[in-house]
Order: sequence, then C-alpha cells, then structure tokens
Amino acid sequence: MKQLLNWEHWSNDEIRALLDFAAYMKGHRTYYNGAMLGRSIAMIFQKTSTRTRVSFEAAMTEMGGHAIYIDWATSNFELTDIAFESKYLSRNVSLIVARMKKHEELARIAEGSEVPTVNGCCNLFHPCQSLADMLTIRMDAGTVEGLTLCYVGVHNNVVNSLIEATAALGVNLVLVTPLANQGAVMESVNSRPRSGGSLSWEKDVRHAAKHADYIYTDTWVDMEFFNDPAFAEQKAQRIDLMLPYQLNHKLLEGSKAKVMHDMPIHAGYEISRELVNDPRSIIFQQAENRLDAQKAIIVKLLEGAA
Ligand code: CP
Repeated sequence: MKQLLNWEHWSNDEIRALLDFAAYMKGHRTYYNGAMLGRSIAMIFQKTSTRTRVSFEAAMTEMGGHAIYIDWATSNFELTDIAFESKYLSRNVSLIVARMKKHEELARIAEGSEVPTVNGCCNLFHPCQSLADMLTIRMDAGTVEGLTLCYVGVHNNVVNSLIEATAALGVNLVLVTPLANQGAVMESVNSRPRSGGSLSWEKDVRHAAKHADYIYTDTWVDMEFFNDPAFAEQKAQRIDLMLPYQLNHKLLEGSKAKVMHDMPIHAGYEISRELVNDPRSIIFQQAENRLDAQKAIIVKLLEGAA
C-alpha cells in the first residue's frame, strides 16, 4: 500500500508524475468535484496547524468527501497503543493524515492503519509542503528542471523533504544553513539518485541570493517552541546568529530571485514584513498551492482503492 510518510518509497518518476498530476488538477479543478463522494479522511493533529488542516479539509470538501479533524489532546490516542487506534480509524475512513511530533509515532500510526497514511509534518519531514513548493515554482516558471532554489535558514524537516523533491525533479538546491552543513543530511535523504540538478552549500548568503531563481526561508525556531518560555534563551541566541540571514530588500539587492516561505511567518525574524507582500513574493501562491498538492496526494493514494 502506497503511503506518504516521506519521499523515501517514491521513485523519481513517481514524484514527477505526482507533480504533473497536481499541476493538471490545479488547471482543471472542477474535473475532480465529486471524486471523493462518500469518502472520509481522518486528520490527527498533535501540533497546531493552519494550512495543512485547512487545505486537506477544503480538498475533501471540494471533491465531495469529508475530512474529520481529530485533536490529539481530546482523542483517545494518548490512552493506548496508537497503532490500535489507527487500525480502528482505517475501518471508518479512506486515508489518514497525521501531524505528529515524532516520526516514529507517525510510523506507528501507519503500521496500524489499513489505509494510506500521509505525513502532515513531523520532526523530520514535510513532504506535502515540498510538493506544494515544487508546484509553485512549476506554475510560476512553467518548469522546475534546471532552476536554482536557495533555502536560507535552519536545516529542518522542510529542508529534508526539499532535498529529496529537488533531487527527483532536477532542481539545483543551494542551502545557506549556518547551523548545519553537509553532515546534517540524513542518509535516507542523501542516497536518492538525482534526476539532474545539484545540491550544494553556500556560506555567502548574498552570493547565493544573486544566483538564485527562488529564495526560500522558514522559521528559525520550531513552531512548537516559538512562544515557549523554556526555549527563550536558545531562541535569543538563534535570533542573534540568524539575523544577518534575514530575507529583506537589502539582502536581495542585485538578485532577481522570487521569495518563498512555507508559513507561518515570523515577520522581522526570518523575513522582513515589507518583503512578504512585495511583488517578488510568491508566498501566498505557495500557500494556496497546498490545496492542489493535497488533492493530488489524496486522489493518487486512493486510486484503485475500494
Ligand atoms: N506550512 C505549514 O505546514 O503550515 P501549517 O503549520 O499552518 O499547517
């Protein structure tokens, strides 16, 4: 059974076909009205979310189905073996989306489930986001192949999924991640054969920005810790270190790169407030594209399912 916990069990051809399909769906939204008629999906959230929750829910509604939101804290997942709970869920729904703090817990949900499980973002991966990111570049430029995407920030779950997606799709990915180097790349991510493009690290953020077609940033502090007083000291240190890497007009002088951010945005930290709504920003298209990416994932995973 095909799942989407990360891109590991998806070949480059399958990822490319999924992106093609997402682009097709975006251009033919009404074709899929009713495609999920009579079906439900369950969405388990151990962490907060705006886009992941809304886009999966809207995707199911638009396709004639239903998405059930399950708040971890008020469910019975915490009281038992989570694989038993997901096995039960899979007897009532066609697909499970889970946003879990730990990838191992996501894997337990998938282990119990008899229907496909989709990672709605865990500590290690955010595959749904990376599909929407590639879709955004594709819709903007007409292709992703051979283009240069520069990610500036902290090496996180989004980066792991971007490394895989860009390798599969022939994108040049340049990482400006001052807290991490090549050694931070997980073996499972690093071992994917490339369809073209490249993966490299750059220390000079201005140089990287100058040569990028797209420049992308994300929060410097994991969102679950952003307002946590216990994390305040580490957050302050990180901000000091990362402020020279903030995406703003000055940093982008001489660069034609379009600006991306997976949201939620912490304006004044990883990106300046002015840049968010600047004409070169495609941030809201990127967030909008979560809906089309989610639809493609749901339809592909349920293709042929009873
Ligand atoms: N980018 C993203 O996953 O947004 P949410 O955390 O709001 O779902």
